[in-house]
Amino acid sequence: MRYRSIVAGCGSYLPERIVTNDELAQRLDTSDEWIVQRTGIRQRHVAASGELCSDLARRAAQGALASAGMTGRDLDLLIVATTTPDNTFPATAAKVQGQLGMIQGCAFDIQAVCSGFIYGLAVADNFLKTGQARSAMVIGAETFSRILDWSDRGTCVLFGDGAGAVLLQASTKAEPGDRGILSTHLHSDGRDYEMLMVDGGPSSTQTTGVVHMDGREVFRNAVNRLAEVVDEALTANHLTAADVDWLVPHQANRRIIDSMGRKLGLDPSKVVVTIDHHANTSAASVPLALAEAVGDGRIKPGQLVLMEAMGGGLTWGAGLVRW
Ligand code: ACO
Repeated sequence: MRYRSIVAGCGSYLPERIVTNDELAQRLDTSDEWIVQRTGIRQRHVAASGELCSDLARRAAQGALASAGMTGRDLDLLIVATTTPDNTFPATAAKVQGQLGMIQGCAFDIQAVCSGFIYGLAVADNFLKTGQARSAMVIGAETFSRILDWSDRGTCVLFGDGAGAVLLQASTKAEPGDRGILSTHLHSDGRDYEMLMVDGGPSSTQTTGVVHMDGREVFRNAVNRLAEVVDEALTANHLTAADVDWLVPHQANRRIIDSMGRKLGLDPSKVVVTIDHHANTSAASVPLALAEAVGDGRIKPGQLVLMEAMGGGLTWGAGLVRW
């Protein structure tokens, strides 16, 4: 039997508190003008004290379940892609599994930083295609504000908190219009481990640590490697950029997003941009952008959606979905 992963629903959650660039400029040597010009970011959401990664993940997953008319009992795979889990262990996914009343199947976390959602989508797609699961919730959730050095203007202005979730179902039917995940493409290169990292961890320092990065090198790698993986995804499906209805890129920097749109020759109106109001929410950025564009009616059933992301590791990947 051949299975195909179909998107059955999606959801998102953003913490209530919004921190504007002007607010940051009151306590840092920065300005709204610098941040907007270099990154496109105007504001970010920040989780409240006591609001955990699992809380954000659960709310996004509940939205995805509601949009599909399903409950936690219908799921048999739950993946949380996160860099900021509630605890060192167990997995945040296990907590969310319990909270959703999902009493079968399995739940685990994936750590691929900003590429985490694409990695999760690829793993879930492979579970569904092989018949090992029937319904999979893939969540990207981050409380990145907890691993920032809030006195480092070079990093703290870039990130935000949030969660997005996509619910997949295995289908054996010939779906009308070829709907479903067409392919996913993952890469990593550990030689660049230190280019973008958090300098703590249970095995090294027994502290959580804070984000450090070589911004220019990350930027250069993002532009090149994302272009390569997007090309790989299109070629694998005998498609061209002209077939793409929506590019849903990882939201790290407006200039990276614009460069990708230009390389593909896409009209800017076909690129989903949330970086201005979400900032970089790491593993949550792609599913948050998806949920926004589905929610406001831009992404419609049958349309071709191209997703891409790059993050620490380095890791990067792309996915093509007929929505
Ligand atoms: N406000 C004001 N000035 C600042 C700020 C700030 N928030 N941050 C840095 N500067 C200063 C620097 O100190 C430097 O000053 P100097 O010339 O006196 O030394 C000057 O601005 C230029 O710094 P650069 O780092 O060269 O600035 P650049 O144009 O490269 O922009 C940025 C920095 C925005 C981080 C950019 O390199 C970038 O976006 N890189 C990609 C990194 C990224 O997206 N990371 C996210 C995680 S990875 C991912 O998700 C793909």
